[in-house]
Amino acid sequence: MTEINSVTTLTRDGDVAIVTLNSPPVNALSANVRDGLYEGFKQAIDSDAKAIVLICEGRTFIAGADITEFGGAMKGASLPDVQAMMENSPKPVVAAIHGTALGGGLEVALCAHYRVAVPSARLGLPEVNLGLLPGAGGTQRLPRIAGVEKALEMVTSGRHAPAKEALAMGLVDELVEEGKLKDGAVAFARKLVAENKPLVKVRENNAKLEEAKGKPEIFAEFRKKNARKFRGFLAPEYNIRCIEAAVNSNSFEEGLAVERKLFMELMTGPQSAAQRYYFFAERTAQKIPDVPDDTPTRPVKKVGVLGAGTMGGGIAMNFLNVGIPVTIVELKQDALDRGLATIRKNYERSRGAVPEQTEQRMSLLTGSLSMDDFADCDLIIEAVFERMDIKKDVFAKLDGIAKPGAILATNTSYLNIDEIASATKRPQDVIGLHFFSPANVMKLLEVIRADHTAKDVIATSMKLAKQIGKVAVLAGVCPGFIGNRMLSQRQREANKLVLEGAMPWDIDRVLYDFGFPMGPFAMSDLAGLDIGWVKENSKGETLRDVLCEMDRRGQKTGAGFYDYDENRTAKPSPVTEKIIQDFRAKKGINARTISDEEILERCIYPMINEGAKILEEGKAIRPSDIDVVWVNGYGWPVYRGGPMHYGDFVGPDKVLAKMKEFQGAMGDDFKPAALLEKLVAEGKKFSDLKA
Ligand code: CAA
Ligand code: NAI
Repeated sequence: MTEINSVTTLTRDGDVAIVTLNSPPVNALSANVRDGLYEGFKQAIDSDAKAIVLICEGRTFIAGADITEFGGAMKGASLPDVQAMMENSPKPVVAAIHGTALGGGLEVALCAHYRVAVPSARLGLPEVNLGLLPGAGGTQRLPRIAGVEKALEMVTSGRHAPAKEALAMGLVDELVEEGKLKDGAVAFARKLVAENKPLVKVRENNAKLEEAKGKPEIFAEFRKKNARKFRGFLAPEYNIRCIEAAVNSNSFEEGLAVERKLFMELMTGPQSAAQRYYFFAERTAQKIPDVPDDTPTRPVKKVGVLGAGTMGGGIAMNFLNVGIPVTIVELKQDALDRGLATIRKNYERSRGAVPEQTEQRMSLLTGSLSMDDFADCDLIIEAVFERMDIKKDVFAKLDGIAKPGAILATNTSYLNIDEIASATKRPQDVIGLHFFSPANVMKLLEVIRADHTAKDVIATSMKLAKQIGKVAVLAGVCPGFIGNRMLSQRQREANKLVLEGAMPWDIDRVLYDFGFPMGPFAMSDLAGLDIGWVKENSKGETLRDVLCEMDRRGQKTGAGFYDYDENRTAKPSPVTEKIIQDFRAKKGINARTISDEEILERCIYPMINEGAKILEEGKAIRPSDIDVVWVNGYGWPVYRGGPMHYGDFVGPDKVLAKMKEFQGAMGDDFKPAALLEKLVAEGKKFSDLKA
């Protein structure tokens, strides 16, 4: 065995040289890895071996470029040098893939002459999710193997294709038995030698490109079909252009040059900076300074859910989906029946629904009218009406029923979890698990730590969140926690702006153009204006009161802030406009013209300011956690990183100056957070704050 460097070895199995990488956690292409590959291949080529296998130790093949190196000075062998060394090898090179071959990892594998993989492996070019494109020939080589249409789909979705599909695409030449990758790859290499197989260079393979030549409609249709999905993002369009270049260029090099240029543009632009920031934000959110990774967790083998309403049903589905049995308890039989029927319907209507799977999941679900049936549950999640008296009553009862050590969780949106916990004699077992609606779909889970919540309860909740496919963020107890607390700032300003002179659709348009999937008024119409509205108590004091009294309750009644046609297409409503004008007249407000810029700043800056307050109160661990909440729970465009990243992008000084200006004109809704003042005084940004 030759040790090439700290992460690379060169070994032999008879005639076959084996270059092995071992650079945990994911064998990313750091300078060290590139050096090792370059030198390893050089020595293998110089040796008397007849073929060369590239394989990785640990959980995965190369998972891509080392994202932590982005933006820094380039050191070590360049990736193109490594690729050229492999591709120009006079001996067949076989990439042996397990885990994931992603981004630069797949681009390296595409410079081998052949690829073998175990069935569990997955291959993809996920750069688009970092606001990038595969900058090492991926956009030029993939269509040469998989064809233009498949390549377009792969690079713009960033999807990881399973090995079997990769085999069908030609991306992998042979599958080898799980757990026997090295032996399989060596045998494959030996066969290549014995049968004198050609050294296949993907770059020279133009047949699939020829098929697409002179057919610009392929690209036009693809763009049209995905326009909504790609809206606002630069990277998908740039990826498409690269594949266009692969088809239309006169040579591989010419296409590569286009790829290089567009890659650099993305890499130095704000969108990719935001998306790369976000990649780490999501992972950092899993780290809790005083609850280290090795904190013991409690086993959760059975879950109880109290309340089978909007949230309870969706919450239950998360656990059924991963095979954890759930007992769901309601007050009355009809509510229980309705709840169970909704869960079944959701399964039946979900994409790719298979009847056996629905039955299998439903078989894990038990409905009951008695909380006593929670006695054997390891975790009980309460999702009953949002009223403190009811929650306390329910938790006092749970205290008497739940087994020792069971975790008692509440899905409350706003209520004080310390107070809820005080109804039990085991506040250390009480935590907030704030799911978002629809709870079976939305990725975000706010995990709320109360005063007495035990560390292993937090650790268990974070782990469980991952198991059910959620992105968890830890928050402290305060009204609305992180997300809703900041949202209420935006909502307040949106409502004020309407009174002052803007129309709901002006505000929605500005926020939509910023990148949100919809604005606050379209959102209200979708959710229903009458959520929490009680006819008997309505005094016609708010716009919502008036709209609801007129039975304009949102999309479901065909009208709300907007008018809707039979396809539920929204149109600005003259009726709403008149109501608003009357409302202003009644309050003696003279409407003024409000600029888009003011709308944006009034809606967004108070949110950033509130985020600063949340941080200074210690209700979020770090600014990036807040961003994870907003991207996953509220549709904040990931290419803008999140509100706190955006605050840094605009500049905390600019945010502060505007808040002060607004405060002077409109009062203390705009009072700057002390932390914002401090950052500006010290010339710092939110990203300078350490957890
Ligand atoms: N660079 C640096 N670090 C990386 C990394 C990368 N490409 N990919 C993952 N990591 C780190 C993570 O930050 C994490 O670190 P911590 O344990 O310190 O938090 C660790 O590796 C494990 O990652 P995950 O927690 O995500 O592990 P997982 O098993 O859930 O997922 C994975 C593994 C599928 C590889 C996932 O990490 C992933 O999708 N990584 C990104 C892959 C990617 O985008 N590659 C393309 C890079 S860009 C490129 O290659 C440009 C080019 O064209 C040259
Ligand atoms: P819902 O009204 O749809 O469902 C509540 C259910 O709880 C009802 O079916 C009711 O019969 C049942 N219930 C009430 N008291 C009960 C008791 N003592 N025992 C058993 N069942 C009882 O309400 P929803 O929307 O599901 O909200 C539940 C909780 O989730 C609330 O705390 C709410 O703030 C929170 N939440 C709601 C979100 C939403 O978008 N709807 C989002 C996140 C949290």
